[in-house]
Amino acid sequence: MSVQTQLARITVPQIRAHKGGQPIVCLTCYHAHTAKLLDQHVDLMLVGDSLGMVMHGLETTVGVTLDMMITHAKAVMRGSKRALVTVDMPFGSYEESPAVAFRNAARVMQETGATAVKLEGGARMAETIAYLTQRGIPVMGHIGLTPQMVHVKGGFRTVGREENEWPALIADAHAVSDAGAFAVVLEGMAEPLAARITQLIAIPTIGIGASSVCDGQVLVMEDMLGLNPNPPKFVRQYAQLGPAIEAAVEAYARDVRSRTFPGVENVYPMKKAQ
Ligand code: KIV
Repeated sequence: MSVQTQLARITVPQIRAHKGGQPIVCLTCYHAHTAKLLDQHVDLMLVGDSLGMVMHGLETTVGVTLDMMITHAKAVMRGSKRALVTVDMPFGSYEESPAVAFRNAARVMQETGATAVKLEGGARMAETIAYLTQRGIPVMGHIGLTPQMVHVKGGFRTVGREENEWPALIADAHAVSDAGAFAVVLEGMAEPLAARITQLIAIPTIGIGASSVCDGQVLVMEDMLGLNPNPPKFVRQYAQLGPAIEAAVEAYARDVRSRTFPGVENVYPMKKAQ
């Protein structure tokens, strides 16, 4: 008997097929209601571990746990139907060994229903990427500025502005691609290097602070919506929701304090006595 399964969402091969063609549209997403709003407009939603900083007020992504990722990924899956959802593997959940990475990534997929995971690191993570993809877990790579390394590096720094850095970063890109990743995020990377990597490797590159030369773009949704008062310099803001929310809350507070808050007479009118 042969059974054909038509997957409801955009698939990993469909994302791969964007290589050199129509750019991939990707945003981070952490909640059900925003997932619903994004679903028809993006190809890919990333439940990024940036949620630790954006949603939970952490200073870095190092404190994010697997349970936090799973909780937010479940919400994003409930809110969306179409886009491919990829979930970040948080710090400490995959670096130890390919087997540990598999166990935790399988948990993410089984408990959330998401299609793929993302993990940080180039050549050093190639064995793990191969181990996961060969066992049914699609992996998105992430090279360049890798925020989980913040304490080793002593901060966040754009990479590739000096040509002597290029060979190691190009080797990272090849390692991730050859290991079977279906796409790779290039974060905080000088444009000429991002262009070179995009030209050299077989899988789509998805840039964040790496210029429009990449095969797609990802931004932290709150940054592009104007919810972050100090967004990274490369972010174009498409709305100013932060000031809009503040103005709305101010107006609400004014209404409540001046007792001009609308009553409920029209919504729940008194019933006439029988
Ligand atoms: O965690 C995240 O949001 C990310 C993107 C910035 C690529 O990894």
